[in-house]
Amino acid sequence: MKIGIILYSQTGNTYSVSLKLKEKLVTAGHSVNIERLKVVGEVQPGEKDIKFETLPDTGSYDALVFGSPVQAFSLSSVMASYLTQITSLQGKKVAFLVTQFFPFPWMGGNRTVGQMKKICEPKGAAVCGAAVVNWSKRSREKRITEVVEKLSKLF
Ligand SMILES: Cc1cc2nc3c(=O)[nH]c(=O)nc-3n(C[C@H](O)[C@H](O)[C@H](O)COP(=O)(O)O)c2cc1C
Repeated sequence: MKIGIILYSQTGNTYSVSLKLKEKLVTAGHSVNIERLKVVGEVQPGEKDIKFETLPDTGSYDALVFGSPVQAFSLSSVMASYLTQITSLQGKKVAFLVTQFFPFPWMGGNRTVGQMKKICEPKGAAVCGAAVVNWSKRSREKRITEVVEKLSKLF
């Protein structure tokens, strides 16, 4: 399968997990491309008018993993803005990878996954799974291994 991992990562956490996921998916025989969203200038919290250096095209992928940090108990405004401008995800398998500082997914992670679903499903995405990494948890490394395993088995 041709899989695109399209992510926003302000401080590198979501990106580091994405790299591990890519490795796992490649080992499983998929063709995987990571595309990290880059914005022009500084993004203020809650900003709506976000300008991207380039807008990754989802068209060529069979499946997508969208990755984002939780910001202000919500989906980062950068990923929200990117997902909103996608015209169609018809026929594509889609999964979500979320990272957050707080130790439990109910502290913003689950809500973020819900927001991603709400944007992607009306565009035709077949949402097949999601996972949250809680960065401040002591067992983080174990969790990252589990998340990578879980997401890699969805495709
Ligand atoms: C502006 C901002 C707001 C944040 N808000 C939250 C939050 O509400 N809940 C939380 O658990 N973590 C919050 N964080 C922490 C990030 O979600 C966490 O560090 C995440 O792993 C960062 O991912 P990244 O390195 O890919 O950007 C916030 C971080 C920033 C920069």
